Amino acid sequence: MDYHSKFPAVSDLKKRAQKRIPHFVWEYLDSGTGLEHTRKRNRIKLDEIMFYPSILHGDINPNLKTTILNYEYNLPFGVAPVGMSGLIWPNAEKILAGTAARHNIPYTLSTVASQTPEDLATHIDKNAWFQLYPPRKTEILDDILKRVKDSGFTTLVLTVDVPDASRREKQIRGGLTHPPRLTGRLGLQAISKPVWLANTLKNGIPKMKLMQSYSNERKSLSSTAHIGYLLRTSPDINYLRNLRKKWKGNLVVKGIMRAEDARSLEQEGVNAIWVSNHAGRQFDGTFSSIEVLPKIKEVTKLPIIFDSGIEGGLDILRALSLGADFVMMGGAWHYSLGAMGTKGPNHLIDILTKDLIANMGQLGLQHISDIKT
Ligand SMILES: Cc1cc2nc3c(=O)[nH]c(=O)nc-3n(C[C@H](O)[C@H](O)[C@H](O)COP(=O)(O)O)c2cc1C
Repeated sequence: MDYHSKFPAVSDLKKRAQKRIPHFVWEYLDSGTGLEHTRKRNRIKLDEIMFYPSILHGDINPNLKTTILNYEYNLPFGVAPVGMSGLIWPNAEKILAGTAARHNIPYTLSTVASQTPEDLATHIDKNAWFQLYPPRKTEILDDILKRVKDSGFTTLVLTVDVPDASRREKQIRGGLTHPPRLTGRLGLQAISKPVWLANTLKNGIPKMKLMQSYSNERKSLSSTAHIGYLLRTSPDINYLRNLRKKWKGNLVVKGIMRAEDARSLEQEGVNAIWVSNHAGRQFDGTFSSIEVLPKIKEVTKLPIIFDSGIEGGLDILRALSLGADFVMMGGAWHYSLGAMGTKGPNHLIDILTKDLIANMGQLGLQHISDIKT
């Protein structure tokens, strides 16, 4: 099949994915919180960023290689952490980690993913990052850090924008439980998506395997009271300092929206900050991440990773032009999996690469880092 003519844009993948993923899972993937003002604002404010096209620059042969955290990646974008990725599309973690390794871009495994760090050890390269939702108990924290390191993950990402469970009303209405129970209404939704269902039954009902290994919890819980939430805490500055002492590799803090926070993190020995509003999934009363990016760039010399609302190569250039050093996506990777299964992430990389190159031509950029000058 000619995927490029069938799905030339992320929006095509999204439309197709919605048709192939059960409704209750779709609501988990695609929900913001509240009235989704922040989620919509992410898109609106990205669209408002304009460039002047460049002319008479001769041939352009764009180079997309990008260095961050002392590592050169082939492309300026990567995979953000997504909890229960394997529920959205069976085996998602391994497919995404493997595709990312082959393309030499970063893949981030979530604490609440459906695969463990050990499950991914043979699928990752030096490209793998691990995202930590901070466990309450020191023994669990220490054990997770050891497992993550022993499995070959090089960079630890501490997420700090989930002090409590998000309400995410659409998701609540959708009725997802953890572990998912495919009975009644949800069962009917699952049956109507045969490819998803067949693959899910083949791989087994996904669970938060890492957190489950520390829990005797057997009951099914609502989506916002699951094991991940039960085991983790809302970290304070001492938690971060302690983590910095324990983890010798790269440490990134994810979920930064205020310039003051970025400035104070410089004193804490972190290696990068990740500007994100979690795709508008946590707090409906905040700015788009692209609006706050220049203010954060102004006050810090730390490398900046950026996400929330990215849907194409032009968006990646927009974020890089305002001070990001690297760009991540969560939703788009899962739209690609939902639309095309294992071949999806490869195709998404193709879309984004072609889009970046076309827009770099318009801007006369030979190298991706030239966007900053
Ligand atoms: C379904 C879903 C689950 C997510 N789970 C996590 C998670 O476990 N940990 C985390 O730090 N961020 C999580 N995020 C946020 C992403 O890492 C990322 O910040 C966000 O998706 C970026 O916005 P985008 O989806 O518009 O690209 C999740 C996002 C989605 C869509």
